[in-house]
Amino acid sequence: MRYFVTGAAGFIGSHLTEALLAAGHEVTGLDDLSTGRLENLAAVTPHPRFRLVLGSILDADLVDDLCDGADRVFHLAAAVGAFVIRDQTLESLRTNIHGTEHVVEAAHRNDARILVASTSEIYGKNTRVGLREDDDRLAGSPLKSRWSYSEAKAIDESLVSAYVAERGLWAVIARLFNTVGPRQTGRYGMVIPRFVRQGLTGEPLTVFGTGDRPAASSAVPTWTPTGPVTRTWSAGCPTARWRAAWWASSPPGRWTTSSPPSSKTRSPPRPS
Ligand SMILES: NC(=O)c1ccc[n+]([C@@H]2O[C@H](COP(=O)([O-])OP(=O)(O)OC[C@H]3O[C@@H](n4cnc5c(N)ncnc54)[C@H](O)[C@@H]3O)[C@@H](O)[C@H]2O)c1
Repeated sequence: MRYFVTGAAGFIGSHLTEALLAAGHEVTGLDDLSTGRLENLAAVTPHPRFRLVLGSILDADLVDDLCDGADRVFHLAAAVGAFVIRDQTLESLRTNIHGTEHVVEAAHRNDARILVASTSEIYGKNTRVGLREDDDRLAGSPLKSRWSYSEAKAIDESLVSAYVAERGLWAVIARLFNTVGPRQTGRYGMVIPRFVRQGLTGEPLTVFGTGDRPAASSAVPTWTPTGPVTRTWSAGCPTARWRAAWWASSPPGRWTTSSPPSSKTRSPPRPS
């Protein structure tokens, strides 16, 4: 099968790319290397079924070209990390909203199924134990940059949901909780790599806020397509289970609780 992976040089994207190639698939990756690294893909760079394109999801024509011929799209590219969101809020919003719109539209136009990576940040301050997909968001002020990541991802989810409902896109949203593993960097504000580095070098652990915020984490192998993605998908919290069973099946599947429209409508081709 032919896969298009955005954010392929990132922490999760590189593991996913390796797993897809190992499973015999063809992979085209797109990355602008803003937080990703070529070293992450060192093991697969010479692979005959892999090509990496350096570019941005903000380039709609490039995204559309790369999506052409893809059977499946994994959309992982995003502005991530607390420091990135705080220091480059505007560019992060553009990437996470407009960039995702380009990828979703390209998947729809090219008749590819898509998985869009979202985040547990969607829940904001909701501390209910046993969160469900349709639980309320309890976000802080939109004037605080800290919440702009959660907001952008929430818009992404609404966008995907509307494409599914109104245009028959075949899609699934994966709302990831903290994901940890090799290649994750603490440089952009990820907490666990920072704790590990500080622990190993004997520095005091840096804790922002009061330190009493609970967090759930899962290991990066959860993200391999040969594993749970073809079955029910646990996103790191016991009740947040993703109905991704149809991902590998040929007939149209289900969008969490509602079925996609019976016939697909396609957008007209973009004028060149
Ligand atoms: N790691 C986690 O704990 C976690 C938690 C929740 C959600 N997620 C989501 O998972 C996805 C992958 O995250 P990750 O942890 O691997 O982070 P990452 O920073 O390692 O990967 C993101 C990749 O996207 C690339 N990118 C950023 N902007 C781009 C653009 N405009 N065009 C092309 N590429 C661009 C980066 O260079 C990077 O390689 C993201 O969508 C993120 O929101 C991750």
